[in-house]
Amino acid sequence: MKSILPTGNYPEALEIIKNLFTFPREKMELMIRDFQEEMHKGLAGTESQFKMIPTYMPLPTGNEKGYSLAIDMGGTNLRVMIVKLSGKQATPEIILSSKRELSRREMDTDAQTLFAVIAREIQKLLLQLELLNRKNNNIGSIEEVGFTFSYPVKMVNRNSGIIVALSKELAAKDLLGQDPFVLLFQALTALPVQTQLYPLSALKAAALLNDTVTELIYGAYLKNNEDSDYQCRIGGIIGTGYNFALLLDTNAILKFKEAEYPSRQMIVNIEAGNFDAASLPKTIFDQWVDQKSLKPGFYRLEKMVAGNYLGRITAWILKELIQTDNLFNANSDIIEKINNFTCVHMSLLEANYPGNQEKARELLKELGISPVMDEELSIIHEITTLVSTRAAYIAAASVAAIVLFIDPKLEQKHTIALDGSVFGKYPGYKAKMLVTLHQLLGNKAEQIKLEYISDGSGIGAAIAAKC
Ligand code: GLC
Repeated sequence: MKSILPTGNYPEALEIIKNLFTFPREKMELMIRDFQEEMHKGLAGTESQFKMIPTYMPLPTGNEKGYSLAIDMGGTNLRVMIVKLSGKQATPEIILSSKRELSRREMDTDAQTLFAVIAREIQKLLLQLELLNRKNNNIGSIEEVGFTFSYPVKMVNRNSGIIVALSKELAAKDLLGQDPFVLLFQALTALPVQTQLYPLSALKAAALLNDTVTELIYGAYLKNNEDSDYQCRIGGIIGTGYNFALLLDTNAILKFKEAEYPSRQMIVNIEAGNFDAASLPKTIFDQWVDQKSLKPGFYRLEKMVAGNYLGRITAWILKELIQTDNLFNANSDIIEKINNFTCVHMSLLEANYPGNQEKARELLKELGISPVMDEELSIIHEITTLVSTRAAYIAAASVAAIVLFIDPKLEQKHTIALDGSVFGKYPGYKAKMLVTLHQLLGNKAEQIKLEYISDGSGIGAAIAAKC
């Protein structure tokens, strides 16, 4: 591949990269237009990049009551929790919870391996609950299960659906066409030891949800609670993956024709990561990331903004800088090590540089990149900042597109409930999104609050299970 960077001239190379990574306002406006067009097409049921999946879920009322089991299978972590809801919009209480990282092997081998892990975690938690109950003896029965499964699932009704695609580099192909709840119950039945006080056989599939949907449900639950005039009708995740859900009048979902759905409104999962258009500021580096991914050409927007990919974009740029003798004196041994650069490294680096250079060096040393001269550190920092800043700008433009879709003149106030490691932990990410919203919308941007609401995928699922 011929390089686009000059040899041994970092200032010039940086200028070229900077230009590639700009996202001017005019282009953002085009992106908003294109994004909304795809939303309209998806709702009409014509061919669209957005699946615009009807979820059969309305917003919660706040009167949800009782104990439920929530499962959150996201793409990096698996969480299981028992949540108590007391009605009257009371704060949900997490009675017990467990969290563990899923290994690539567990996620990528096949459906059976993955769901066996989930089933065992549920069983462990219910056994713990039995112990807890022996002490307190006041925990009610556990029946309803809310399952957050954060991949594209075409819903059949509120508690069943079919996995229609695999995003976020998930490789277990036999998941396609299957219902996550069916897989879960098969795995639970196959467990050698059954729990007694809280029998697995009592569990019922109550709600199957996307993480953006549970985030919106939890956000709306909390906002009702606060009696805020900033209504919550949009939920999103900017973490390993990237996506949004929004609340619409059911009759605005033109392709949804089922008369039995009882509510006037329904949450729709956009599957927003799959956006692609000329207005998206793609670079040659994004092209390389895409080509090396499991599904080239698919989820192009997600591959520019989500945690799973930011490290890869940065790594490509750094490798290119090394190969063109603009960094590390063209030392090719470092190229291999750069491949292990992730979004977590970027985020920690930006948190510690320039304040704590030693910590920043340590991080690179962990990857085997050492020694690192001052100038080299500064270059790496410059590149991570360009990549993460562009990501925040693109994420903000997509938020603007979705808010303007439901409120074109921005006459109302909106809370956007957001979760995910990138939004929640990446230094400066939220601030950059807010600056972009101001650039795009002027003072009207004050009508939009971006609120970090963590635990939505767990608690939101527990609420949904009782809706
Ligand atoms: C991916 C999934 C989507 C999920 C998002 C955030 O885009 O396809 O369903 O909501 O990641 O986890």
